[in-house]
Amino acid sequence: MSDLHIGIMSGTSLDGADAVLVDWSSRRSIAFTTRPYSADLKSELLALSQSGQNEIERAGAVSIRLAEIYAESVRGVLDLANIRSDQVASIGCHGQTVRHRPEAGFTVQLQNPSLLAELTGITVVADFRSRDMAAGGQGAPLAPAFHDGVFRDKVARRSVVNIGGISNVTILIPGSPVSGFDCGPGNVLMDHWASIHLGKPFDEDGLWASSGTLSTDLLDLLLDEPFFTVAPPKSTGRELFNAEWLGQRLDGSTISPQDVQATLLELTARTIVSAVRAECPDCDEVIVCGGGARNQTLMRRLAALAATRVSVSDVHGIPSGQVEAVAFSWFAKNALSRQAMSLGSVTGSRHPIILGGIYPA
Ligand SMILES: Nc1ncnc2c1ncn2[C@@H]1O[C@H](COP(=O)(O)OP(=O)(O)OP(=O)(O)O)[C@@H](O)[C@H]1O
Ligand SMILES: [Mg+2]
Repeated sequence: MSDLHIGIMSGTSLDGADAVLVDWSSRRSIAFTTRPYSADLKSELLALSQSGQNEIERAGAVSIRLAEIYAESVRGVLDLANIRSDQVASIGCHGQTVRHRPEAGFTVQLQNPSLLAELTGITVVADFRSRDMAAGGQGAPLAPAFHDGVFRDKVARRSVVNIGGISNVTILIPGSPVSGFDCGPGNVLMDHWASIHLGKPFDEDGLWASSGTLSTDLLDLLLDEPFFTVAPPKSTGRELFNAEWLGQRLDGSTISPQDVQATLLELTARTIVSAVRAECPDCDEVIVCGGGARNQTLMRRLAALAATRVSVSDVHGIPSGQVEAVAFSWFAKNALSRQAMSLGSVTGSRHPIILGGIYPA
């Protein structure tokens, strides 16, 4: 079987689909592309993330649109690398989460893997999270298993922080099994606030946040959220950290919009650093990936609070914007070779499991 596997990640930020073509024989990413979502697709996915009218019909229709975008991104990486589809062993496609309900035992990632296989002629692996939940796990985060494979050091105590819509932390302590969990909002609240007040999908480099002043009263109120003190394993999503959650805490507030943004950025930085401190005392290095790594204001706050070396994953060989997509190419490769993964120390699942359903080419 070929060692070429494509990974496609589309996360809670709803910014678009990232696709990467990886040659696992040389462990190299050969091509990468991002397909941004249109404003209209983003708002439909956002709407489907909550209960609404005629959801099944709308979910079916949007899944077809997603498969077309994912197929375009596959064509994009194949063209960039000058590789034919029949040379590729699989596509690992995460899909778009619209519900994540570990307490109810289900998680839903919209996509149409059959159509993606049909459009590309490549075997698709999809629905990576459900089997972990079926085995008693949270179904998330899954990336720590991959971080363990690529970022672990024999001597240094490391944490890997992925700052997407939600932030998740992976703990890599020599001699101990990997652990990891969602630690709170990454960009999701800052993006929401920027879209309302700036009319932009995100606060570029955190410049707007840096023009504001931290409100300690608001920060204390935000940090009062019980999720932050729940012991791992734990996972979260837009079900908790959404416009309503923020609105309730801002009710009657006279804090200026830029001060709110400054405080939301501080919330993301503090909750990440607290999680790292709690689970990886004397951590030697915090490796940051995900879109949040591009927010220089956030990176400066992380460096100031962490009191240890903070780097971006690029210095360890994987560009920060590609890590999650590369992870799903690796999960797909493992699914095809029936490689079970032990995620018990991360998600709480009871036994090793093969993640993902296979849709043959
Ligand atoms: N230059 C930048 N300045 C500030 N924020 C940025 C910048 N570039 C990207 N971002 C942030 O990163 C987000 C996208 O990150 P990413 O794609 O890692 O998240 P995601 O799609 O939610 O993925 P996942 O859920 O897998 O972690 C954007 O919504 C934005 O908030
Ligand atoms: Mg994204």
